[in-house]
Amino acid sequence: MIKHLRSAADLDAPTATLILDTAAEMAALAGREVKKLPTLRGRTVVNLFYEDSTRTRISFEAAAKRLSADVINFSAKGSSVSKGESLKDTALTLQAMGADAVVIRHPASGAPHRLAAWVDGSVVNAGDGTHEHPTQALLDAYTMRSRLGRLDGLRVAIVGDVLHSRVARSNVLLLTTLGAQVTLVGPPTLIPLDVSAALSPSTKVSYDLDSVLPDMDVVMMLRVQTERMQDSYFPSAREYSRRYGLDLARMRKLPEHAIVMHPGPMNRGMEITPEVADSSRSTIVEQVANGVSARMAVLYLLLGGKA
Ligand code: NCD
Repeated sequence: MIKHLRSAADLDAPTATLILDTAAEMAALAGREVKKLPTLRGRTVVNLFYEDSTRTRISFEAAAKRLSADVINFSAKGSSVSKGESLKDTALTLQAMGADAVVIRHPASGAPHRLAAWVDGSVVNAGDGTHEHPTQALLDAYTMRSRLGRLDGLRVAIVGDVLHSRVARSNVLLLTTLGAQVTLVGPPTLIPLDVSAALSPSTKVSYDLDSVLPDMDVVMMLRVQTERMQDSYFPSAREYSRRYGLDLARMRKLPEHAIVMHPGPMNRGMEITPEVADSSRSTIVEQVANGVSARMAVLYLLLGGKA
């Protein structure tokens, strides 16, 4: 088993499959009255969040607690970080407290890589800048596999603000490792030019959502991340929705079995309409539930559990 999960590229197909299979076992636990396993009793998991988060943070906390670990939640707001303490000094503090795993979300791409050099425990990337978010990719892959029965050969469109999306990057890496065919869709200004060279040669690009939809098994809508935009990448929100937003009329172009995903948080009315987000094809709430199982599997396996 690997020691850290910093990037979806850390996972080869057998390791990723082992995590997904373990997540399925963890999910079975969620149906029980007592949702707890003793496996990580006496181990300490630190959640180190330098950036806002709702789902990911709660999900990692629930995952660690369901495995009986001691959980320490650290948020940059209200800590000595606001007094200017560096990531390295914070890491040394955690090291002194004997953290077995550190889950980190940070606005700087690469922060988890630096952290791994300063602590003895396992480092799990919970989102670093515009770089990666590997556990999101795992919970997405888990959701696709449980809804559609397989990943190999699955046709997945990832739509919208690919340029700023760590979710897209990790998904491309993991999905291609597991044999899915990914098509990135969005305005040319929001799709990195070097996408296939940088990520995977089999990844396709399209600027025309309507023409792509009839061939897809999965359509994953991304949030338009205006907080990461210094320039204007499209004429107006209305224009963006008209070309790249998923509404009911567009959703009907998908094959009958296809599912609609979104990592959250959503801009309802921008990249996805409320009718689509709340429709029976949407797996958005399921993704959140699956996130706990996927993160339980990751913590369990990284901290030395057996499948
Ligand atoms: C994403 C994130 O923070 O990277 N959300 C999440 O973790 N579920 C996507 C986003 O912010 O749009």
